[in-house]
Amino acid sequence: VLISGAGTNMAALVYASRITGCPYEVVLVASNDPEAAGLAFAASEGIAIFSLPHRGLTRADHDAAMEAAVRQAGADHIVLAGYMRILSDGFVERWEGRMLNIHPSLLPKYKGLDTHGRAIAAGDSHAGTSVHLVTPELDAGEVLAQIAVPITPADTPETLAERVKLAEHQLYP
Ligand code: GRF
Repeated sequence: VLISGAGTNMAALVYASRITGCPYEVVLVASNDPEAAGLAFAASEGIAIFSLPHRGLTRADHDAAMEAAVRQAGADHIVLAGYMRILSDGFVERWEGRMLNIHPSLLPKYKGLDTHGRAIAAGDSHAGTSVHLVTPELDAGEVLAQIAVPITPADTPETLAERVKLAEHQLYP
């Protein structure tokens, strides 16, 4: 599982993996930010961690190091859970069909950043979250699952993001 921040979706994956009959286990949590809060969480859960700041490295070199860590951990799937880096095409292509991302919108609406602000500004009745296969084109791979979340009149991007995360934590596992 690759993260850049809080790692709440990664935590949801970890706890879902502890339920009897879950078909996967999390073998590594890796980040481009050594300070990412999710790394400390993963370590305290006894999960292997790896981090490498991307600053000063080319995208190709950083991706190669992340991919090497993933392979060394024996992973056969990669989950992007709030990993705020665009991956090089070669990396994505080598994991085709085995790399998933969670994106905070009802794709194909609102690819990229500021999804909640854009949904509110557009007057949408619902925001939501999507799990999709990762392809070289950003947020454009096949959608595997979605949950819609209502937008209330008082919502700000922050309050909406919190509500969407509640849905995400059910969807990703
Ligand atoms: C989530 O909203 C996810 O949809 C997006 O980044 C956020 C990650 O949150 N890709 P967290 O680090 O899992 O709490």
